[in-house]
Amino acid sequence: MSRTVYVTTPIYYVNAAPHIGHAYTTLAVDSLARWHALLGADTFMLSGTDEHGLKIAQAAREAGVTPQQHADRFSKPFRDMCDRLGVRYDDFIRTTEPRHTAVVQEMWRRMKAAGDIYESVYEGWYSVGDEAYFTEDELVDGKAPSGHTVEWVEEPSYFFRLSKYGPALLAHLDAHPEFVQPQSRYNEIRRFIEQGLNDISISRSNFDWGVAIPDAEGHVAYVWLDALTNYISALGAPDGERFGRYWPQSADDGERRAVHLIGKDILRFHAVYWPAFLMSAGLPLPSQVFAHGWWTNEDAKMSKTAGNVVDPFDMAERYGADAFRYFLLREITFGTDGAFSETALRNRLNGDLANDYGNLANRSLGMLFRYRKGVVPARGTADQVLDPTLLAAAAQARAGAEKAMETIGFNQALASIWSLVSAANRYAHETEAWTLAKNGDDARLDEVLYNLCEALRIIGILTLPFIPGKAATLLDWLGVDAAERTYEATARWGGLASGTRVKKGKALFPRMDKPKANKAQAAPQKKKAQTPAAKPAAKEKADDGFIEFGDFVKVELRVAKIVAAEQHPNADRLLKLTVDAGDPEPRTVCAGIAAAYAPEDLVGRTVALVANLAPRKLRGVMSQGMLLAAGEGSDVQLMTVPGDLPPGTRIS
Ligand code: MSP
Repeated sequence: MSRTVYVTTPIYYVNAAPHIGHAYTTLAVDSLARWHALLGADTFMLSGTDEHGLKIAQAAREAGVTPQQHADRFSKPFRDMCDRLGVRYDDFIRTTEPRHTAVVQEMWRRMKAAGDIYESVYEGWYSVGDEAYFTEDELVDGKAPSGHTVEWVEEPSYFFRLSKYGPALLAHLDAHPEFVQPQSRYNEIRRFIEQGLNDISISRSNFDWGVAIPDAEGHVAYVWLDALTNYISALGAPDGERFGRYWPQSADDGERRAVHLIGKDILRFHAVYWPAFLMSAGLPLPSQVFAHGWWTNEDAKMSKTAGNVVDPFDMAERYGADAFRYFLLREITFGTDGAFSETALRNRLNGDLANDYGNLANRSLGMLFRYRKGVVPARGTADQVLDPTLLAAAAQARAGAEKAMETIGFNQALASIWSLVSAANRYAHETEAWTLAKNGDDARLDEVLYNLCEALRIIGILTLPFIPGKAATLLDWLGVDAAERTYEATARWGGLASGTRVKKGKALFPRMDKPKANKAQAAPQKKKAQTPAAKPAAKEKADDGFIEFGDFVKVELRVAKIVAAEQHPNADRLLKLTVDAGDPEPRTVCAGIAAAYAPEDLVGRTVALVANLAPRKLRGVMSQGMLLAAGEGSDVQLMTVPGDLPPGTRIS
């Protein structure tokens, strides 16, 4: 039987619009599923919405609609979010569907038959925000630990003998340390169980928006029992074909893996309640529960009331779905918290995506068009083709990504793949195709162009799970067939067929130097932005990689003479220069050229200055402009201009 991998998102409450937290887990699950599919596994990706419980009933009441109408209205945006972010789900479950409620009732019957359910009266605190019960000791300043308010509840209720499952849960954790990840969460759960588990209330009787409990009139299932069951109801448990195919059949099922990705706040439900419910119902456990961290905004918890919620639709609109996905997966280790910032997102977009990934595609395919009319050249003989450094970089990138993804390490996997992007950019730089073309060295030029396209093919395939939209575009340009987009195909150097006619479109990731206004900020200027022709035209210009002459002349380039130079007091890389740029006073300019020039060699040179760059403090020294230079590091060379031009002369 083929190896199967089943990955799930939490199911989302239908009381609010999707935000970054929902987007994060969903796209992580999508990338994980796509990764395993790339590796050849039979995968199944599930998302859905959690539609019962007091929280939803109250929200519906406030909106003046029935709970079902409310759920119908708020479930759809979660599907739309998937579509907008390029997330491919195999099923989307709603807890109000009959296929789900039937399985919740079946769970109840089984747990009852096991002798694990008894009737009593619940007296205690309940937090509607968390849909969770709390004891007096657990409250913090009279509230739930999450900060949600609590209410006193006294009602007849059925209880589940959670206390009975402590030893079995600990034994499972001992035998399967990978069951809860990352390690810090595993430790947290172990400690929690070791302190002793209390039985929990699993029915509510003072409202009716939930799954009716068999043979217990007036009771509905506790919303977490209802919600957690989605992971198996969507597979048609206990007898459905999908359940047999994707759900592990034992704790050591090597053929089937089921992984729940969740946020750290809902770990206890998934790592204690859920396995105990399954044990009680006589069903095998999932393979792993992986809890990720939380995104904060400006160092504060995101919340509707604080008004700092990040809207995934807005992000996809302004930065593109793939850039948003890449940022969230690359910026922090999966499992830790992260501070969301649009500046950091733009840095990733302009750096990793535009300068590195996009530029590699652009320059490689550009040269292929320039020198070979867009046709992939012959590969040459085997030993000519194999460029040892590039080949090693490809093998390492692949192995590094595979290893990282075994522990759901998205950011390490991406870093590993990007080391190949950098190696290929270096290769393009060092092999100087333009010089080969000039010298008529056709055989070597063929090799270089072939190797660059081949590196692009491998990079395109390896990035498919993470940035599925742009990676697919790149592979389309290269003419790589759908059947050839497999992990296995990245192990071979030489997979790209000679003679393939490639395509090339607009820049894959256009740079974005200034923040684009978000919808809310843009609202007051709505009228202007909607002027019919103005907006689309401006967008087209930005996308094709060209700028208008009007944009170029905004840059004020001037002749400047270096009158003094010294090492920057706080940065080895920088020199602090005093230049005469024709202004009444000389200016200070910090330049990153210390590796290439001694200060004393610079005095008296006439150079090109960007004179109207906004002044900026560089390591404590205010820099009032930028000198033009070519190259990098110790190879950098200042652009000089004839010395007889007076300082201040405009360069255009
Ligand atoms: N309905 C329950 C889950 C039931 S699963 C059987 C629920 N829903 S939720 O809509 O409130 O939250 C869903 C997920 O969003 C949780 O995993 C939560 O951790 C995550 N996030 C909410 N805000 C978040 C951030 N700011 N950052 C990252 N994830 C966060 O809980």
